[in-house]
Amino acid sequence: MGMMDGKKCLIMGVANQRSIAWGIAQALHREGAQLAFTYVPDERMKKNVEKLAGSLEGYESMPMIPCDVQDSAQMEALFQTLKDQWGSLDVFVHSIAFAKQEDLTGTFSEISWEGYALAQHVSSFSLIEASKHAKPLLEAAGGGSIFTLSYLAAERVVEKYNVMAVAKAALECNMRYLAAEFGPSNIRVNAISAGPLRTLAASAVKGLSAFREVMEEKAPMRRNVTLEQVGNVGLFLASDLSACITGETIYADNGYNILAV
Ligand SMILES: NC(=O)c1ccc[n+]([C@@H]2O[C@H](COP(=O)([O-])OP(=O)(O)OC[C@H]3O[C@@H](n4cnc5c(N)ncnc54)[C@H](O)[C@@H]3O)[C@@H](O)[C@H]2O)c1
Repeated sequence: MGMMDGKKCLIMGVANQRSIAWGIAQALHREGAQLAFTYVPDERMKKNVEKLAGSLEGYESMPMIPCDVQDSAQMEALFQTLKDQWGSLDVFVHSIAFAKQEDLTGTFSEISWEGYALAQHVSSFSLIEASKHAKPLLEAAGGGSIFTLSYLAAERVVEKYNVMAVAKAALECNMRYLAAEFGPSNIRVNAISAGPLRTLAASAVKGLSAFREVMEEKAPMRRNVTLEQVGNVGLFLASDLSACITGETIYADNGYNILAV
């Protein structure tokens, strides 16, 4: 018997086999969870997600729903579809971020309002809006778990993270306010602050390879994190093993965050 048997989990943010959301989906599936996936409405993205999900047992019954988080109507439709198909929800995984290249690689003080607003909308506000819709479904299950993905740049200056650093700081703050509001409904809200992984989103941040070298050289564990390891932290936050944890940012970074350098 798996620790997630019968649990209904919505995964937002699978783009390809390197996506952190995919690592989490695999861990949840391994433990018996029922999964639903979203994809950005685009034929290529749809095919990618369908192909990956198609490799999992029980694929035929998995809801696959288009959703661009910048479109409130699509967000509403997503949760209405889940309500119609599942009636309730146990876990919501938010693994989404986007910023324009020039607002990541350029000079911090040159960030435009449009770029700032875009990064906030997709990467931070989307957690609030999706969680608002997820809440009644999680309540219908008697409570549940929401978690999102953050990065150390939310607290420390990381070169070339610029507009996304501010979005992550807001995301972690959103997470804490949601945790405070949703706690009485037995809904926990947390964040995983993951070490650098080679993904599509991370490729937009210049210097990822250098960050990964620094991890190997300086992180207490002297290595990089893997998709599987971050997926297992997701499983922990999704499951009852973390029943007394809410409003927390859990570092999945081989201890790098404790260092002063
Ligand atoms: N890769 C890393 O090093 C790393 C480290 C820490 C945190 N994170 C965070 O993990 C999360 C997942 O990123 P990833 O690294 O797995 O990369 P990824 O590119 O695989 O995932 C990002 C996802 O965001 C989705 N997305 C972008 N714009 C969207 C929109 N408008 N509507 C709906 N979905 C949208 C993409 O389709 C994609 O599925 C992000 O929040 C990222 O910031 C990544």
